[in-house]
Amino acid sequence: NNPINFIYGNIHHASEYARDLLELVQLYQKYDLNPRSEIAEYLENIDFHFVSDDLPKVLSSMKIGADRILQLVKSFRNFSRLDEGKMKPVNIHEGLDSTLLILQIRLKAQPDSPLIQVVKNYGNLPLVECYAGELNQVFMNILANAIDVIESYNLERGYQEAITNPCAIAITTEYSTPNRITVRIADGPGMAENVKQRLFDPFFTTKPVGKGTGLGLSISDQIVVEKHKGFLRCESAPGKGTEFSIEIPLRQEVRQIASLVSLQRSEVA
Ligand SMILES: Nc1ncnc2c1ncn2[C@@H]1O[C@H](COP(=O)(O)OP(=O)(O)OP(=O)(O)O)[C@@H](O)[C@H]1O
Ligand SMILES: [Mg+2]
Repeated sequence: NNPINFIYGNIHHASEYARDLLELVQLYQKYDLNPRSEIAEYLENIDFHFVSDDLPKVLSSMKIGADRILQLVKSFRNFSRLDEGKMKPVNIHEGLDSTLLILQIRLKAQPDSPLIQVVKNYGNLPLVECYAGELNQVFMNILANAIDVIESYNLERGYQEAITNPCAIAITTEYSTPNRITVRIADGPGMAENVKQRLFDPFFTTKPVGKGTGLGLSISDQIVVEKHKGFLRCESAPGKGTEFSIEIPLRQEVRQIASLVSLQRSEVA
């Protein structure tokens, strides 16, 4: 019941109908070797030969396009979790994957920058109780920064060097003792100490006017630290690379305390 489903669902039928109609015309052509001049002229005017060859191709690329839009719509929905304002147990890998899908277009090869490879080292994670949409926003900010820095590094060092020693983004997830999870995102060439000192300051940006607001990491820090009682850390040194790590508890404390209290109550009773 969303508009892209109308297109996606009907393209399949449209392709079949088009194939049937083209075959019908071809049947006429096969048995009616001398069509009336009006028909013959019409066939020539519309370049029927070309149309019958091209129409299936047009429909099939429309189907591929509709399929991509459908995937994107699904990802956006999964990404923003608009329907959920509450904490819920979620699969963190789904959040990371939908964020990557939204960023896909920026990861692809560009005329002046080669493809940015993403290496996933996903561990075995249980569901994590969190504000999924907001946590995805954190992944988005960190991954978008990673792409920005790799892009400008590639421009700086030149295409040949960029393609010989390509930069990758590595995403590692792990379940750590006893009830925390960590997502590490490693990228790029690293940053200078004076940038690292100010990373999380609101409005701190090294990007040109109009490109960065300098809010991405300060908002991410709020989401991780205040809303999820976790840690957002950055390790980085020029030439060595950067690694952001997001560590959050599997369950939020309010619940833990509440369940402890109810446990104690039941013990007393
Ligand atoms: N992975 C990274 N490598 C090197 N520098 C980084 C990295 N991530 C962030 N930075 C630096 O930290 C600054 C602040 O990042 P932040 O995400 O808060 O803001 P921004 O990306 O500049 O703008 P916005 O995210 O609001 O569009 C960036 O301008 C950049 O200089
Ligand atoms: Mg940013």
